[in-house]
Amino acid sequence: MTKPSYYITTPIYYPSANLHIGHAYCTTIADSIARYKRADGYDVMFLTGSDEHGQKIQRKAEAAGMTPIQYVDGIVANFKKLWKMLGISNNDFVRTSEERHKKVVQAVIQKVYDQGDIYKKNYEGKYCVQCEAYWTEHQLEEAGGVCPDCGRPVETMKEESYFFKMSKYADRMLKYIEDNPNFIQPVSRRNEMINFLKQGLEDLCISRSTFDWGIKVPFDPKHVVYVWFDALLNYFTGIGYGTDMEKFRKFWPCDLHLVGKEIVRFHTIIWPIMLMAIGEPLPKMVYGHGWLIVDGDKMSKSKGNVVDPVALIQEFGPDAIRYFLLREINLGSDGNFSRDALINRINADLANDLGNLLHRTLTMIEKYHGGVIHKVAIEDAGSTELHTLLDETLKTYKADMDKLAITDAIKTLWQYVGAANKYIDTTAPWVLAKNPADAQKLEAVMYDLADALRNIAIMLEPFMPFTSPKIFKQLGLAVPEQFLLADVGWGGTPDGTKVHKGNPLFPRIEVNEKGETVHAVSKKAAKEVAAPKTAEAGVATVGEITIDDFAKLDLRVATIKTAERVPKTDKLMKLSVEIGAETRTIVSGIAQYYTEENLPGMNVIVIANLKPAKLRGIESRGMLLAASDGQGHLVLVTAPGICSGCKVK
Ligand code: MSP
Repeated sequence: MTKPSYYITTPIYYPSANLHIGHAYCTTIADSIARYKRADGYDVMFLTGSDEHGQKIQRKAEAAGMTPIQYVDGIVANFKKLWKMLGISNNDFVRTSEERHKKVVQAVIQKVYDQGDIYKKNYEGKYCVQCEAYWTEHQLEEAGGVCPDCGRPVETMKEESYFFKMSKYADRMLKYIEDNPNFIQPVSRRNEMINFLKQGLEDLCISRSTFDWGIKVPFDPKHVVYVWFDALLNYFTGIGYGTDMEKFRKFWPCDLHLVGKEIVRFHTIIWPIMLMAIGEPLPKMVYGHGWLIVDGDKMSKSKGNVVDPVALIQEFGPDAIRYFLLREINLGSDGNFSRDALINRINADLANDLGNLLHRTLTMIEKYHGGVIHKVAIEDAGSTELHTLLDETLKTYKADMDKLAITDAIKTLWQYVGAANKYIDTTAPWVLAKNPADAQKLEAVMYDLADALRNIAIMLEPFMPFTSPKIFKQLGLAVPEQFLLADVGWGGTPDGTKVHKGNPLFPRIEVNEKGETVHAVSKKAAKEVAAPKTAEAGVATVGEITIDDFAKLDLRVATIKTAERVPKTDKLMKLSVEIGAETRTIVSGIAQYYTEENLPGMNVIVIANLKPAKLRGIESRGMLLAASDGQGHLVLVTAPGICSGCKVK
């Protein structure tokens, strides 16, 4: 059976400088979608590349005393290195300086010229070299005289140029957008484009003659093709337009052009009109994602807040960065990058939830069954809860991914991780291990956990492609060439599989008093963990109390119902807890150690008669008991299986 095809692209990046974390954000999203589609059985074409021509690059090269190609060669090599480090699975990489691309651009511009949609005239107008974009007087006026996209001053351009009759297609374009609600996503971008088109469309200047770093116009070689007309056609080059029409027909029209919000206009007006002019179908969807901002500010060299993805990957590993970018930011909105938030995510979601689940499971399989997984039939024992939740999880995860709601898909998966962790607490294998009559139940519980981890690893692969194989290896499973969602389901782990427990997947990261990060893998941190220096390491370091003092505390078992982070704080989580028949709000400083998903359902111990206090304007009635390990980590004291409201004495 032939697989259905799926074609996804990123923008091609300007090699005017090395890429920053914002660029890595866009490519990581595209990669996770491409990987998801492959796992879902599609024949995927995933394209990225470099946009090498134009006045901006030519000027940069001149300033560096190099030819443009010398200048871009080094930077493009860095792009490719970065994508490799980040696990980007693109099937091709188009450089617009390549011969194959030049042929496509010249063939298309010639075709449009031959049919009479291109004409020559003297042009005088305003141009932003940084964005390689023309602006009308009206647009500039609205933006206060500067480039509406980047805020830089524009330059007056006065030269003889070729023009593309875009205005001729304006009505058709508007109707297309109105008739195809999915074409531009999210809806806010669609509305912007409709408003833009309603103001009327001018013809587009598509050639330049005052510099020469570009593709020559075939019918007038004194001119080079305007860089956007050139760049957009990379989406054709990558799938063989003009040379491999079978491949081209297989993948065109493109399923998804993923682009940043400021270049939606080029992709939903100029590009589709170029396609209309040459009689090709329009892309199925253009999605304009938001920007990654840094500590609340847009990244820029002048502000000195540009975050280098290579340094981050070297420090935290590629999957932690990928996870953060995909989990933290909703696709259509702007999102903030901060080291603190990154470290919180690594510690809470990766070290605590996922890493611990694997480590605890393998430790128990080693301890109770000599490292061998025994497959026990579902009806014999074990959890029906984890099985039914798996089917639901897969269904919701797929529905989320099909809507490009990546953050939601990850949350869905983490609910399953949370359920598996909770399953350990509720089945209490250490208790089962003490009773020979529970031997089979213990085997079933271990199998459930191992198989849950296998399923988690498959669904995790689009987001964390380096981690899923590690999980498989530690479980003792053969790593497939392609993880397939068709393999998600209970029972895929073979009986007798021998586990290979390795290092924890994500060691916790500490920040010392100087604000430096200390990775728990480092020797220093390992020593500190082994021999905590603080007073909490010992007992009897606080004054004695009498039994009467203790009796003043009303300690109760409580069930957490909901949890949400308190906005603008790193530590606080607002919880709604049930203590017997009563529901109350407690604000607790545990947000660095737990997520919103893994708290609900947990049975914890609360000091119920603590005087209420206001934290960030929220009245908190009570306090949760947590253990501290001397390194400042908090672990909630839990009471699995004990009724909510019970008194702790
Ligand atoms: N070369 C053009 C695209 C041509 S596509 C036919 C271009 N290049 S770019 O290098 O300036 O930007 C490439 C992409 O990176 C854009 O989609 C842009 O939105 C994205 N980003 C640049 N900074 C970003 C953030 N801070 N956050 C998220 N994306 C960011 O435009």
